[in-house]
Amino acid sequence: MGIEVRLNKTLDASYSAFAMDGPEVVGSTLGTVNGELATLNSIHVIPVKRRSGIGTVMFHAFLDWAKGLGAKRLAGEFKPEFGNCAAGHFYNAMDVKITDKTLYKDLDG
Ligand SMILES: CC(C)(COP(=O)(O)OP(=O)(O)OC[C@H]1O[C@@H](n2cnc3c(N)ncnc32)[C@H](O)[C@@H]1OP(=O)(O)O)[C@@H](O)C(=O)NCCC(=O)NCCS
Repeated sequence: MGIEVRLNKTLDASYSAFAMDGPEVVGSTLGTVNGELATLNSIHVIPVKRRSGIGTVMFHAFLDWAKGLGAKRLAGEFKPEFGNCAAGHFYNAMDVKITDKTLYKDLDG
């Protein structure tokens, strides 16, 4: 697929990354780690590139980074773009539990 996930900066435990398709930015991720808790603040893929695995690559890149810092749980606010029902399917595919407006995943094992 040729997607490169490029880490922009790590300030303390803040994560900001772009997914690059050659020179083109096709996605972005923002998150943090605080102790054992990883928070995914935002994950976004440009509309014309959706459903080609970029979100999956970015999600796992974030989890790898978070686990490397000792995170044991992922949590966050579930706030899909208005009218976008893809997010629920995406998190389901990533084995993330969604309850009302929150998301959760154990990172152990
Ligand atoms: C959610 C989002 C990041 C997914 O990114 P993506 O690159 O399209 O996701 P992937 O291609 O890696 O999809 C992985 C799996 O998720 C599921 N999935 C993703 N989009 C789906 C859709 N529209 N319908 C059904 N299943 C979907 C599928 O199981 C898919 O695997 P498959 O294509 O082999 O069937 C993207 O839709 C997006 O940017 N949405 C707008 C921002 C947003 O709502 N972010 C979430 C905030 S809570």
